[in-house]
Amino acid sequence: MKLLILGATGPTGRHVVDLAVEGGDTVTVLARRPEALDEPAGQVNVVAGDATSHSDVAKAMVGQAVVISALGRSRSVRADDLFSRAAAAVLGAAKEQGVSRLVWLSSFGVGDTYRSASAAQKVMYRTFLRNIYANKEISERAIRSSGLDWTLVYPTMLTKGPARGGYRVGERLPMKGNPTISRADVADFLYKAAHSAEWIRRDAVITD
Ligand SMILES: NC(=O)c1ccc[n+]([C@@H]2O[C@H](COP(=O)([O-])OP(=O)(O)OC[C@H]3O[C@@H](n4cnc5c(N)ncnc54)[C@H](OP(=O)(O)O)[C@@H]3O)[C@@H](O)[C@H]2O)c1
Repeated sequence: MKLLILGATGPTGRHVVDLAVEGGDTVTVLARRPEALDEPAGQVNVVAGDATSHSDVAKAMVGQAVVISALGRSRSVRADDLFSRAAAAVLGAAKEQGVSRLVWLSSFGVGDTYRSASAAQKVMYRTFLRNIYANKEISERAIRSSGLDWTLVYPTMLTKGPARGGYRVGERLPMKGNPTISRADVADFLYKAAHSAEWIRRDAVITD
């Protein structure tokens, strides 16, 4: 499969790249810091650029079948409009290039998923994650109304732990306390969702 991965230098994106290379996909990444990539030269096609730039995303989009986004703001609590701007660039370029499948990593607590959050989670989402979540919500409204075959993925708090494989996935999952999931397991789901029709036009909440 011809796969474009955004956020490939981030901790979740790196796992997705590894899975795609191991799985034999033809992998392209769009990275603003290509020197931070782990993969040896030749294993992935690298397009240097910014995910909020329509022209950079359009260059990387040529010939792709599926886009996976693991974009994020790392430790920042300010979105800086990353998600809304990247979604606009990705949706525009995907339509121009006839790419229909998009798997987009969000965060549990964004949009309608907030309603099934626990009291402890709601406190975090309303306080220090508020700005990031508001911008994620804008991006997701655009994705839902795009006509693309999207999947929106809502993990709970991420850890650096290894892939365990026993995570739960559902359109709605009731929460207690503040559950976690490893980035390696999230990457496993992103990769599998990109290779299957099961989660097309559905929200996927995932947690241990
Ligand atoms: N932390 C949690 O507990 C948690 C829970 C649920 C969901 N999430 C979400 O999961 C996602 C992934 O998080 P993570 O911690 O694995 O990754 P992260 O550290 O946020 O990594 C972000 C990735 O996005 C890239 N990026 C950011 N802005 C970009 C731009 N303008 N153009 C191109 N690339 C850009 C970064 O590139 P550079 O290397 O160049 O910076 C990096 O590759 C995020 O959306 C996060 O909100 C996090």
